[in-house]
Amino acid sequence: MTASTITRHAPEAADSRIVAWVDSIAELTQPDNIVWCDGSAEEKQRMLDESVEAGTLIKLNPEKRPNSYLARSHPSDVARVEARTFICSENEDDAGPTNNWAPPAEMRETLDGLFEGAMRGRTMYVVPFSMGPVGSPLARLGVQVTDSQYVVLNMGIMTRMGAAALAQIGPDTEWVPAVHSVGAPLQPGEEDVAWPCNDTKYIVHYPESRQIWSYGSAYGGNAILAKKAFALRIASKIGEDEGWLAAHMLLLKATNPAGRAFHVAAAFPSACGKTNFAMLRPTIPGWKVETIGDDIAWLAPGPDGRLRAINPEAGFFGVAPGTGYSTNPTAIEMCEQDTIFTNVALTDDGDVWWEGLTDEAPAHLTDWLGRDWTPDSEDPAAHPNSRFTVAAASCDTIADSWDDPAGVPIDAIMFGGRRATNVPLVAQARNWEHGIYMGATLASERTAAAEGTLGELRRDPFAMLPFSGTHMADHWQHWLNVGEKLQQSGVAPEIFTVNWFRRGDDGRFMWPGFTENARVLKWITERVEGRTDAVESPFGLVPVEGAIDYAEAGVSPEDWEALFEIDADALSAEADDADVFFARMGPKVPEAVLAQHEKFRSRL
Ligand code: GTP
Ligand code: SPV
Ligand code: MN
Repeated sequence: MTASTITRHAPEAADSRIVAWVDSIAELTQPDNIVWCDGSAEEKQRMLDESVEAGTLIKLNPEKRPNSYLARSHPSDVARVEARTFICSENEDDAGPTNNWAPPAEMRETLDGLFEGAMRGRTMYVVPFSMGPVGSPLARLGVQVTDSQYVVLNMGIMTRMGAAALAQIGPDTEWVPAVHSVGAPLQPGEEDVAWPCNDTKYIVHYPESRQIWSYGSAYGGNAILAKKAFALRIASKIGEDEGWLAAHMLLLKATNPAGRAFHVAAAFPSACGKTNFAMLRPTIPGWKVETIGDDIAWLAPGPDGRLRAINPEAGFFGVAPGTGYSTNPTAIEMCEQDTIFTNVALTDDGDVWWEGLTDEAPAHLTDWLGRDWTPDSEDPAAHPNSRFTVAAASCDTIADSWDDPAGVPIDAIMFGGRRATNVPLVAQARNWEHGIYMGATLASERTAAAEGTLGELRRDPFAMLPFSGTHMADHWQHWLNVGEKLQQSGVAPEIFTVNWFRRGDDGRFMWPGFTENARVLKWITERVEGRTDAVESPFGLVPVEGAIDYAEAGVSPEDWEALFEIDADALSAEADDADVFFARMGPKVPEAVLAQHEKFRSRL
């Protein structure tokens, strides 16, 4: 393709820098064609139809699941690949010990080699997008090029994509360029496969120049580059430079019976319940919870000195397994139409199914690998990291303020992981520094959302381990700095730690979770209001007897006590483990965090 044909394809509104950049990427990757996406409904339908034609999408039965589609990925391309994710800062020390790093010049050479001719035989799509409401002072812009229609369709749901975003980018606008290829060029006449990808994978970030390059995968955060790559990894660096925070957090609005609204941001690691909590339907009469975001929050001190937050995304890329009417009816209802499913099972009448959707599995299914499946089959019918992609606007509990350009004021911040032992159901931080310590020492048992041994405990500070574009300890210091600023203006959010996943000796969850988490949320808002007392524990302030009506949640007094039990030996072993972790993090670990660690030890 020649430069003149490339320019001809570009919309008039496209800034010349974007055109030149697209030109350069086309020269490198050699696509057969270039399509600039405008984000229109016609364009979407055309791509859906073409993807069905190509076999990438299966159209579901329109009577059961209108306007919905199923994609089955290659079995080797089912989750983010943390081992292939790189933060290529100029200095290794700016990526820190928790990120993969390579010298940027060396990485650029490697990628130039891989991307050379990578789009041959394919179309390159140019996808302009806004993270955050178009025109919001908190929003940021980007342009992704990709040779995957599936990725374009997902970007179209997950972001404000198309002409309106493109029109925001003028000669002086900052925008993040993101290059994506599945790494599967086609020879002339070669037939395509349903899910092209490559065994070689790279998800690369250059924090200083705000650039993203991704090769070899079409799955989730590896390929929908607006999400984890931009809105967390690059954004955490931009935020550090500009004084705001990019967080792996859901956002919700809770309204109490008196009509007072509270806004809460909560960081739980991947597949640890953010979507579920964000769509909570409270069991307590008079309480209302509305959804603002389910995965990413951008937080910045506002003009009034309060911490304000936006959800930079426009859709949900949610975990399917475990999502059912009894656990998350809101999610089930929002996926009734206009949804792209990936790696779930197909029913004989053209609908979808996954473990946990219904109590009883259908007698026959086609599993996520396209094989016959019955309840006697050994493997799950849906991949454990199978997902749905659906617009935020489809969510019945979405708050009116979810796309307020000014964001919402945050009252409380929560940290929580999957912990079978040791960590109590809930505890409040004594102050901001103690809260940052809670975030820094967050740990969780591994889920299917990342590669690795399932169930293994790993430290996942701020739920950002795979998502920080900077040195993790710098990230903590940045949170401390922002907190100091908030305190100067008198209002910093209260910080809490939660754990829905503590198990009894018999292995069962002692807390019923899901809708009953509303009881913990209620207590959190009451602490924000100063309406209820709390008692000291090594973890922080915990509810006084009677403050949470656990019996209503079906929890026995024995289990309630066990949910807060302190095992001093186990906790001191955990404190030793934190020492090892801090040592690995090196000299950048903030004094305030180390001081809190000493206090924790002395309380044991
Ligand atoms: P990512 O999209 O990967 O960032 O995940 P997420 O944090 O949004 O997780 P999600 O809400 O999708 O939940 C993942 C899994 O945790 C699902 O299988 C849920 O059923 C399960 N889960 C969510 N909330 C609870 C809870 O309160 N208790 C228990 N036991 N399981 C839960
Ligand atoms: C996560 O793993 O935290 C996700 C899914 O939200 S992905 O977008 O693939 O990162
Ligand atoms: Mn996530």
